[in-house]
Amino acid sequence: MAVVTVPTHSKRIEGEGDVADFLRPYGIRYERWPLEDRCNPDASNDEILAAYAPEIEKLKVEGGYVTADVINVTPETPGLDAMIEKFNKEHIHTEDEVRFIVKGRGLFHIHPQNGDEVFSIEMNAGDWISVPAGTKHWFDFCHERTIRAIRLFQDKAGWTPHYVEAGVHEAYLPVCWGPSFISPTTPRVNPAVTL
Ligand SMILES: [Fe+2]
Repeated sequence: MAVVTVPTHSKRIEGEGDVADFLRPYGIRYERWPLEDRCNPDASNDEILAAYAPEIEKLKVEGGYVTADVINVTPETPGLDAMIEKFNKEHIHTEDEVRFIVKGRGLFHIHPQNGDEVFSIEMNAGDWISVPAGTKHWFDFCHERTIRAIRLFQDKAGWTPHYVEAGVHEAYLPVCWGPSFISPTTPRVNPAVTL
């Protein structure tokens, strides 16, 4: 189940309805999808895409998405550090970021356009999210560095990150790095969050 945190207010929101209600004004859609009773999270990519075909096809019709795939990331994934570096800095995309977490977890930070405080969304297995194109955000892996997710694309080229100049990501510590995380000498500082 997703957890929303507003670090500067030490605010924490949980529960499908409350999380969806919080995210809706920002144009972000959130849903829970069936998990274990639908598909083994360790099934093949094709089996996972087949298991969620009803949801995927519905989204393709609604959102103009043309393709779906499954991304598998573990600590052993080649080039993982480069992948992390690519997405943990504030950026936008020219298309929606649509993800369903099959296994593992990760952390979005959202920087609202309307001046509201930055907030994070910890995405866990069974969570589906659609972050609209143009939303300033960044993404961190949690300390397990493991995530398996279905991705939907309108155009894969549109998912290239466009970095925000003077991005604010450095001021926010990923809350899911866990108690064993040792802050670097130039830390992301977030005193409102206790690890
Ligand atoms: Fe992104």
